[in-house]
Amino acid sequence: MATIELAGLRIRPTGAGLAADVDGVDLRALTDGEFGALRRALHDHLVLRFRGYSIDDVEFQHLAGRFGELYASPGYTRSRAVYNPAAPMVTIVSNVVEDGAPIGEHGDGELLWHTDLGFEEVPSALTFLLAREVPATGGNTSFANMYKALDSLAPATRERIARLKSKHQASHSSYGAKRPGFRDIETDDPRELPGPIHPLVRTHPETGRKALYLGRRFGGYVPGLPLAKSEALLDELWAAVDRPEHVWTQQWQVGDLVIWDNRCTMHRRDPFTGQGRRRMHRLMTKGERPV
Ligand SMILES: [Fe+2]
Repeated sequence: MATIELAGLRIRPTGAGLAADVDGVDLRALTDGEFGALRRALHDHLVLRFRGYSIDDVEFQHLAGRFGELYASPGYTRSRAVYNPAAPMVTIVSNVVEDGAPIGEHGDGELLWHTDLGFEEVPSALTFLLAREVPATGGNTSFANMYKALDSLAPATRERIARLKSKHQASHSSYGAKRPGFRDIETDDPRELPGPIHPLVRTHPETGRKALYLGRRFGGYVPGLPLAKSEALLDELWAAVDRPEHVWTQQWQVGDLVIWDNRCTMHRRDPFTGQGRRRMHRLMTKGERPV
């Protein structure tokens, strides 16, 4: 697809269901005009990739902080309270174990489709993921365009879900393990699992566009419906998420910085078991209660 020039930035859409590459800008010294162009590009393309930049954690935290109030993942999801004292909001996603302890979260397995912190009442808005070490193969991250997912539904389904909500279950992580604090839970009945109730259709607070909004498939439930009807509806909605025309897959290189908007995208990760070290530095901005 054609490259777009905006305030000096070069924005090259991937041609897939979402995402664009951006260059032509110094991420360590963004002008107001460049920052405005980046925000607009994020609204238009939902996921932005910056390749071939060098940025340290302090600069990384400063950059992300321009997009909103930074919000670290909750303590019970992390192996350490602080990873880098110079950039205390940065968290680590990694399979690396040092001195018998993981240096970050999420190991090397598959992470199923999710949005970041969707299991909280106020999920995160943007996520910034910076690749410091990547394995030779595996660990790709796929993104889905949830505006397109909603638009692709049958009109009757869109009408039906406009006033329905779903549970984003909180007790299990994206690799299916029980989280600390939820280890005593025995049930796998979606009606009984804990988690916030969010609308199935949410309106993006900045673009005004409507997107399909789902928690993880496991443990999802549409309150007010019999379980079988909830399962059937969720299956229908989930079938719209990973259609090839809605998806783009990022193959990580060291130095890649990817920014995505959790309010209109979902993402998942391929496993990379046995493929070597992977270390990603992550920041998130605080979002708003989905409406
Ligand atoms: Fe995630």
